[in-house]
Amino acid sequence: MSPVATTTSMRSLKDLLIEQVNELHTAETQSETVLNKVASAASSPKLAEAIRAHIEETKHHMERLDRVLGELGIKPKRAEMHGSKGLLEDCLAIAGRSKVDPHVRDAAIIAAMQRLEHDEIAGYGCARTWASLLGFQASASELLKSLTEERRFDESLSRMAETLNKSALEPMAAAR
Ligand SMILES: [Fe+2]
Repeated sequence: MSPVATTTSMRSLKDLLIEQVNELHTAETQSETVLNKVASAASSPKLAEAIRAHIEETKHHMERLDRVLGELGIKPKRAEMHGSKGLLEDCLAIAGRSKVDPHVRDAAIIAAMQRLEHDEIAGYGCARTWASLLGFQASASELLKSLTEERRFDESLSRMAETLNKSALEPMAAAR
């Protein structure tokens, strides 16, 4: 993962939209590999299954971003994305840690995934609003579909946290 500095100008809202869509495109491209590793590290089958289902959604997000870039008349360009890069690296770090209680790791995976999802929700939300304001209604509609899926995944992680985080309490209680 080595982001390249963007040379996109920011003289108009359309420039900003292009930059945001390229950032989302770069982040989604990299997230597939990361999510596969995180799913393999999850001990809860339900959590692993939810993450793998989101990998499939991510593929649709990529296709939608390609269509958005098409409507904007540009080709995808690898973008600078310090925030998303750090969040993806955090997910990988948690997946790769040893000497970890599996239930506690699941709690950590949910937290890291939710940070990542919130970043994507912000990105898709801003891009959707700008696309709508600029009159790119087909793109606004595509971005809204991905935004809705990101929100649903985030909500499912919140629901899983209610039960899986309780499992993480057990080893702490036994250690007292
Ligand atoms: Fe996502």
